[in-house]
Amino acid sequence: MVAWSPGYQAPPHTYDTWGILAIVSGQDHHELWHRPPKMDNAKDPEANDTELFSTLVLNPGDMIAFTHSTTHRVSPQGDSPTVALGLYGAPRMDR
Ligand SMILES: [Fe+2]
Repeated sequence: MVAWSPGYQAPPHTYDTWGILAIVSGQDHHELWHRPPKMDNAKDPEANDTELFSTLVLNPGDMIAFTHSTTHRVSPQGDSPTVALGLYGAPRMDR
């Protein structure tokens, strides 16, 4: 379970595994980037060969799923904290 304060912006990141994220309260803006399988630097997707494939606003009850090749950038929206529940797989050991 994670909470983000209003005004916070998470830097682009990947978990190098699959994941599911559900919004419990608040509102969250997501940018989702596809990262080629051999790329190992997800800190600046705009400077690499990543491809922005989706932007979306998540509200309470909304869920997203992503794979090991997904990079995302999270920006809470509004004036109240955003609370989310995440479930992630084990990081891949073969890369
Ligand atoms: Fe994240």
